[in-house]
Parts: sequence; C-alpha cells; structure tokens
Amino acid sequence: MVDISTLQARERQRFIQTHPASMAQAAAARQHYLFGVPLHWMRDWPSPATLAVACAEGVTLTCADGLQYTDFCLGDTGAMFGHSPRPLAEAIAQQASQGLTCMLPSTRAVAVGQGLQRVFGLPQWQMALSASDANRFVLRWARGVTRRPVLLVFDGCYHGAVDDTLVDRDPTTGRTLPRASVLGQVHNHAEFTRVVPFNDLAALEAALAPGDVAALLAEPALTNFGLVPPVDGYWPAVRDLCRRHGTLFVMDETHTVSTALGGYAREHRLDPDLLVVGKAVAGGLPCAVYGFTDDLAERMTRAKEAAPDGHSGIGTTLAGNALTLAALDAALTHLHTEANYRHMLDLAEQLEKGLVQRIRAAGRPWTVTRLGARMELQFMDHTPRDAQDVRDHAQSDLEAFTHLFMLNRGVLLTPFHSMMLVSPATTEADVQKLLGVFDELLADLA
Ligand SMILES: Cc1ncc(COP(=O)(O)O)c(C=O)c1O
Repeated sequence: MVDISTLQARERQRFIQTHPASMAQAAAARQHYLFGVPLHWMRDWPSPATLAVACAEGVTLTCADGLQYTDFCLGDTGAMFGHSPRPLAEAIAQQASQGLTCMLPSTRAVAVGQGLQRVFGLPQWQMALSASDANRFVLRWARGVTRRPVLLVFDGCYHGAVDDTLVDRDPTTGRTLPRASVLGQVHNHAEFTRVVPFNDLAALEAALAPGDVAALLAEPALTNFGLVPPVDGYWPAVRDLCRRHGTLFVMDETHTVSTALGGYAREHRLDPDLLVVGKAVAGGLPCAVYGFTDDLAERMTRAKEAAPDGHSGIGTTLAGNALTLAALDAALTHLHTEANYRHMLDLAEQLEKGLVQRIRAAGRPWTVTRLGARMELQFMDHTPRDAQDVRDHAQSDLEAFTHLFMLNRGVLLTPFHSMMLVSPATTEADVQKLLGVFDELLADLA
C-alpha cells in the first residue's frame, strides 16, 4: 500500500523548490492579510503557499515564477467561459471610461433583460453583485410574498454566505444543526430552516407537510459537497410537491449553469418559480441575477407596495451598475451561446471518457460524475446519492495529493473536491495534458 503522506511530503518539497516567488509573496503578504491572502479561502489550496497569479488568459494561468498552468478550476466557475474572453474584456474597457455606477439604469437595461429571458427563459429579473447576495434577496422575497417563515434546503448544500442555509442535518434525529465551522453563529436556525437529504422524496414531503415552508432553495445537483446528481424523475416530483404545498421552487444555478445553455432547469424543463445565477453569468465580473415568473413578479410588487416606506432589506448600492450591465450584455451575447456549449460539452465528454478508461485500466474503485461541462473525480465506487454518502466515503488525503500532484505538473483542479470544468477556450491538447498527468498519478499510486 502506498503511503500518501510520504508522497504528499515529496510533492510539497517539489512545490517549494519550483515556486520561490509564490513562497516569497506568501511570506510578505502575511504582513497585510489574514493568513497571507486577500480572501482566507485562498489558503484552502493544498500547496505550501498559495500560487501568486501574474496573468490568466483563456485557460492559461501564469504564476509569479513564470510557470504556466492549464486551468480546469476556472475560479471555481467564475471564469467558466475562460479568463478574460475578448468580447467581455472589450465591453468592460469601453464602458470603463463611460461611467461605472450611477444608481440609475443604463441604456442597456432593456437589452440585458431580453438577453436574460432569451438565455434562461424567465421574464422578470433583478440584480445583485454576488450569488450569496442574490440568494439572500430571494429568501426575503420568498418569505415576504408567502408570509411563511421556513426555508427548506438539502443536507450538504452551499448557497454562499447566507446564514439561513449554513446548516447541517443531524443524521440520527434529522433535525437542523448549526454548521459547526461557521464563525459567530448566534441564531438558532433550527427554528426557521429545515434540512432534508437529497434524492429523498418522502423526507421532502414530510418537511413540506406543515404548510409553513416559504421556499425550497436547491441546486439542481449538489455541486458543493461532491457532485451529487438527481435520480431519474426526482425534480418533476419535487416541483409538484412544492406546488401542492404552496412552497416556492427556487433553483440556484450558480454552478449548474455548466449543464447546458441556460442551465439545468431550462435543459430539463423544470419550470422553477425563481432562478439564481452568479459567478460566470457576466463572465466573472462581479454580478448575479435572479429571475422569476410574471405571476411571482405581481406578488412581489404587491408585497412591496403593502409594506411601510423604508428599507426593504433587499439590494445593495452597486447592484445593476453600468459596468456590470455592459459585461452582462456582452456575456449574454457572446459567451452564453450554443456554439460555446457544444464545444464545452463535447470536450468534457472526451475528458470523462479518458478518465473512466484509465480508472478501469488501473482497477481503481473510483467514479467520474459529469454535469455538462463540469465533472468530478470521486474516490468511491459509485455515484453518490446524497451528502451522507459523500461523507461516508471521504478520502481527503488522496484528494489533497491529487490536487498538488497535478498542480506541480501544470494542471489546476478546483481545490474543493476534484472538480474539473471545461471552457470554450479549453482545447483537445489541454484535455490530453490532463489525461497524461492523470496517467502519471495512477503510476505513482500503483
Ligand atoms: C450554488 C452556489 N450558490 C451560491 C454561491 C455563492 O457564490 P458567491 O461566493 O459568488 O457569492 C456558490 C459559491 O460557491 C455556489 O456554489
């Protein structure tokens, strides 16, 4: 049996020797940043120091040491269409000298609304600067409109820095628990959030039955706790249960927009009441959008008009600013296209096949689960059914080793799980490069 910790120590040493500039930046940055990085999650990469990026273009990332990487992490989806795609960069550069933010709609607003409807299907839209914000705003609208207090989410969910959703499920009692890792938690979320296992219709129905659930907030597949796809027929049944119980059916497509043009819900005709997309929606410029039906728009209008004048608790000053609208307009026109998705899905299928062939040939009990352009290498012998299944099979040492091994050989995977994303800028040669490094990994572990 290979000792992973010995292999990992070797990889850490290799990184230290080959990345003196990133090591030096990490040391110097500690004087100015918590954990030496502008966002503390950036320390979650399994390298001795976080890579300092000099430039990112297409899928090529160049670090401070002048080394190049083929990027399959793509900013954990923010750069799903590649880094700085040309039409987006040009639109941002043009708008940059014509006003960044005015707290007024720019003259592009109507075209952007039309573009959002064309791509995602829903007629009515509001903007936010991040998917976390959009989800928070959606929850307020949902509770305001339905006058119900409870939110329903899935065990293992992640919808951003949204307090109500940062909860777990007690596997023995099924009760909502505060997520132990969350700092400064003071509210008892068990009062207002219910958590059920993914792919379990009976549990969902029981949670909806009291008639007090404002919204089910869900990713079409869990993507933040290992990639867990829905079982056949799950979503139509869930949607029907939500409708029967008067609960709004909200799809968070921030990651699953990788599925197909317009996202999973559109591809599978799930017909949500509300839909959230962030991260890549404007090609990685800070932006998120939430769309809803005309019927819900009427209910939202009535709720707002019935409330006293003053703060709604929804929105932020920079949301819908002129720069964001320019980027979103360019993204909807040039990035969210059939041609881009055809390229991404074809290459992703090639990558999946290549990984599966090699796993089989090496006799490893591993699985590749794919959702359109995004896939995950899972160190378990079956596609997981829910978050508990993922917990039961976790192999964090092997995951961390895989990441660092690949990074040391010029391939970046997402540091959360072993997620790979294929962009319109990814080429067959990039896929072959990843597969070649995967061959080396299998040989090293043999
Ligand atoms: C499904 C989903 N929703 C929302 C978010 C929050 O996105 P952001 O961190 O850009 O606010 C994430 C982040 O990973 C996510 O995966």
